[in-house]
Amino acid sequence: MKVTNAFKNRDACIMNKGTPSSDFIRLNNTDFNRLSTFIYDTFGIYLPEKKHYLLQNRLLPRLQKLGYTSFSAYADFVLQQGEHSDEAFEMINVVSTNKTEFFREKDHFELLQKELLPDFFGRYIKIWSAGCSSGEEVYSLAMLLSEEKQLDHITDFVVYGNDISKRILAKAVNAVYPYRTVEAIPQNYRRKYLLRSKDKTNPTVRIVPELRVKTRFVWENLVGKQDTLPSDFQIIFCRNTLIYFDKETQYAVVSRLVAHLVPGGYLILGPSESLITQIPKGITMIYPTVYQKNT
Ligand SMILES: C[S@@+](CC[C@H](N)C(=O)[O-])C[C@H]1O[C@@H](n2cnc3c(N)ncnc32)[C@H](O)[C@@H]1O
Repeated sequence: MKVTNAFKNRDACIMNKGTPSSDFIRLNNTDFNRLSTFIYDTFGIYLPEKKHYLLQNRLLPRLQKLGYTSFSAYADFVLQQGEHSDEAFEMINVVSTNKTEFFREKDHFELLQKELLPDFFGRYIKIWSAGCSSGEEVYSLAMLLSEEKQLDHITDFVVYGNDISKRILAKAVNAVYPYRTVEAIPQNYRRKYLLRSKDKTNPTVRIVPELRVKTRFVWENLVGKQDTLPSDFQIIFCRNTLIYFDKETQYAVVSRLVAHLVPGGYLILGPSESLITQIPKGITMIYPTVYQKNT
């Protein structure tokens, strides 16, 4: 299937751009290594050889858009532009995997509400969704916290989200989602926190403004030098993001997250991540995917 798509793309390019060079459409090993090393050094995302075709197929439309007829010319361009260039961030827009859902792994939300949040009752709550993608996790957390506020369990709250993809962050800020994605949101939350579009052909929902103002979306690389987020989060969700990093980067990112927690604060990882990630000193596992910063 991938091969078929690649050839379709090649044919489209031949028609538009004339005769291709010999390495046209195929990402050879040299250029795979150049690009994957650049992606690793810049964003921490580890692309082993088995991701060769994934990288090729995801980057092809970008090459075509820019009019490049070979991966080596594109690799020359992006490497020359450097890690802070617009093209580096355009590239990561297409390379990163942004799958997410409202109330994904809902056990974590129940645990948060019943077991973790009571530690901080009576306080202003700050939560961070690290690698937040298009914002569903941020708004799920905001809905839950809004309920807790209405019960007077907490005084107020803010939910931060960061991502490296500008394209996906723009979606998060816009807060408009296809209607079919809201199924996991409890009925009573849907009534309170979602506005329905009138468009019957493309039904969408938008998060209500009262909840949107409780969120902050930040374009920040978890493996970059820039580190602007607050250091007094009570809770950090970093789920389904560490899996794209190698062990060394996972360790560095988890250490960075822990530095942003208050003593006694909680870090929540994705289900498969707690098994693969080496956990730094200073935090203790209290449930299989949940860690508490030592006091
Ligand atoms: C699969 S999504 C997970 C979204 C959400 N946390 C969830 O569990 O549903 C992973 C997100 O991490 C982001 N990401 C990957 N590397 C990153 C980095 N170095 N810094 C910040 N975000 C990153 C990706 O762009 C992507 O949107």
